[in-house]
Amino acid sequence: VIDIRKLYAETGMFTYDPGFTSTASCESQITYIDGDKGTLLYRGYPIDQLADHSNFIEVCYLLMKGNLPSKDELETFDWTIRRHSMLHDQFDQFFRGFRRDAHPMAIMVGTVGALSAFYHDSTDVNDPAARTIASHRMIAKMPTIAARAFKYAVGQPFISPRNDMDYAANFLRMCFAVPAEDYESNAVLAKAMDKIFILHADHEQNASTSTVRLAGSSGANPFACIAAGIASLWGPAHGGANEAALNMLNEIGSVDKIPEYVRKAKDKSDPFRLMGFGHRVYKNYDPRAKVMRDTCHEVLDVLGVRNDPTLQVAMELERIALEDPYFVEKKLYPNIDFYSGITLKAMGFPTEMFTVLFALARTVGWIAQWSEMIEDPTQKIGRPRQLFTGATPRDYLDLSKR
Ligand code: ACO
Repeated sequence: VIDIRKLYAETGMFTYDPGFTSTASCESQITYIDGDKGTLLYRGYPIDQLADHSNFIEVCYLLMKGNLPSKDELETFDWTIRRHSMLHDQFDQFFRGFRRDAHPMAIMVGTVGALSAFYHDSTDVNDPAARTIASHRMIAKMPTIAARAFKYAVGQPFISPRNDMDYAANFLRMCFAVPAEDYESNAVLAKAMDKIFILHADHEQNASTSTVRLAGSSGANPFACIAAGIASLWGPAHGGANEAALNMLNEIGSVDKIPEYVRKAKDKSDPFRLMGFGHRVYKNYDPRAKVMRDTCHEVLDVLGVRNDPTLQVAMELERIALEDPYFVEKKLYPNIDFYSGITLKAMGFPTEMFTVLFALARTVGWIAQWSEMIEDPTQKIGRPRQLFTGATPRDYLDLSKR
C-alpha cells in the first residue's frame, strides 16, 4: 500500500484511478471483504454465521458499536429502536405531495432527506449525543418510511408501526396488513426478511457508502448524508441490480432459451450482460449469494411456489454459467442480487420496492461508516483530483466574431 498523501506532499504526484478501483479512501474497522476467497465479515464475524444465528437488530448494534451486545445491551438497544419507529404526524402529509405513480426510491430520497427538517435536535454532527439519536431514528424509522412508500403506491392507508413486534415482522405487517382484515405474521417470511436485511447491512466502500462518506465529510447533517446514499444506491449497476436480474430471468422465460442469453452475454459486440453475475470485488462465489439462494428456497417452499418458472430458469442458468469457460475464466459468479429478486417478488413486493428494501437494510451500514468517519481525527473533506483534458487558455471571443 502506498501512502499517496505523503507522496503528494513530497513530490506533487497523484494517482489517476477512475472508478477508484485501486484507491483506499479511508481506514475502516467495520467490514472486511476478501473477494478472492469469497469472505465477508462484519466486525470480524462471518456473514453466514450472522445470518444463521443473529438477527438484524443485533447486527445493527454490532456494526455501530463494534462488538456483539450483552443481553442487557441488546434489550436496551432493541427497546430504543422500537420506541423511535413512529413518524411525526406532519411527516405523513409530506408523502401525499408525491404523485401516486412516483417511484418509491424517489419518495425515499425526498422523505429521508426531509427528516432533518423534522428532527432539528439531531442534526448537529459535532454533538455525539445528537449523532446517536439521529442514528437510532434512522434505523427505527426507515421501515415505517419504506412501508409508507409502498402503501402510497398501492393506494392503501398507512399502517402504524407496532412496537411489540420484531423489526422485520413489523415491517412486513406495515406493508401487507390491510385495515379491517386480520393480518397473520408468517415466521418463515419474517425470518427471511430479517436475513435479507442482515445480508445487505454493510459492504464497505461501495458507491453509496462512499457517497455517504463524501457528503458527510463536508459536515452535512446525517439525514442529508443518508439521502445522498439512497440516491446513489438507486442506479441499476448498484442497488437496482436485483430488479434488473429478475427482469432478465422473466425475459428468458424458459430453460430452453438460456443458451441464447448466455451466447449474448459472451458476445463482445452485444452490450448485454447476465444481470446478477459478476462483482467488482468478489472474484469467487459471493458469500451472501449462498445464504440468499437458501433463503429463496425456504420462502418459495413456505409459499408453495417451489415450481416457480423464474426459479427454475435461475437455477439452470447458474448451473450452465458456472460450467462455461467464459464465466469461469472471468470469475463471474452469481451475486446477491441473483436470487434476491425472485425471493422478494414471491413475498409480494413489486420490483420497484426492491431497492427500497436494500436502502432500508443498508441504512445501518451507512450510519456506521458515517460515524466512523466523523469520529476519525484525521478526516478531511473529500476532494478527488482530476486529470484536466480540456482546452488550453484562450481569449474570450465576442459573439459577433464566432
Ligand atoms: N455478464 C457477462 N460478462 C460480464 C459480466 C456479466 N454479468 N460481468 C462482467 N463481464 C465481463 C466483462 O464484459 C469484462 O469482459 P472483458 O474483460 O472481456 O472486457 C469482464 O467480465 C470484466 O468486467 P468489468 O465490467 O470490467 O468488471 P467490473 O468489476 O468493473 O464490473 C459489475 C462488475 C459491474 C458488477 C459487472 O460484473 C456487471 O455489470 N454485472 C451485472 C450487473 C450486476 O449484477 N450488478 C450487481 C453488482 S452487486 C451489487 O451492487 C450489490
